[in-house]
Amino acid sequence: MSSIYESLGGEPAVNAAVDIFYKKVLADDRVKHFFDEMDMDRQRNMQKSFLTFALGGPNNYKGKNMRKAHEKLVTEKGLNETHFDAVLESLGATLQELDVPENLIAEAAALVVTLKPDILNQ
Ligand code: HEM
Repeated sequence: MSSIYESLGGEPAVNAAVDIFYKKVLADDRVKHFFDEMDMDRQRNMQKSFLTFALGGPNNYKGKNMRKAHEKLVTEKGLNETHFDAVLESLGATLQELDVPENLIAEAAALVVTLKPDILNQ
């Protein structure tokens, strides 16, 4: 079974999606403050990892690393489910703009949700 990642066109398609996703996340008052202190390269890296994971593409990070990467955001900046859901919303809106069918968008969201306990350090 091919992943959404492959059906969208692999890495070039994800790079295009990053541009849309990036603008949405940074325009969202609910979450933009989390990204204030990150340089652009790291922001894009984070967003590319996010999308590659969401679309079922190849990834080289594991739950444990994701837990570590976000731990301080939870303990020091109060990262919680509301923020997680806001980012998921931007994912959905991005994929809608790219004309990805709703069932695949739901599949992508479900994949991201599997990382939620790690991201939120639960
Ligand atoms: C499936 C969900 C997610 C994935 C796969 C993911 C992926 C990543 C990765 C790979 C990094 C490391 C980037 C680097 O250090 O260069 C990172 C860091 C970061 N992520 Fe996420 N992320 C997810 C969810 C979220 C959410 C929901 C938020 C906030 C609303 C968030 C905010 C951040 C921030 C601010 C950093 C930088 C932390 C620091 O200062 O070191 N992430 N993320």
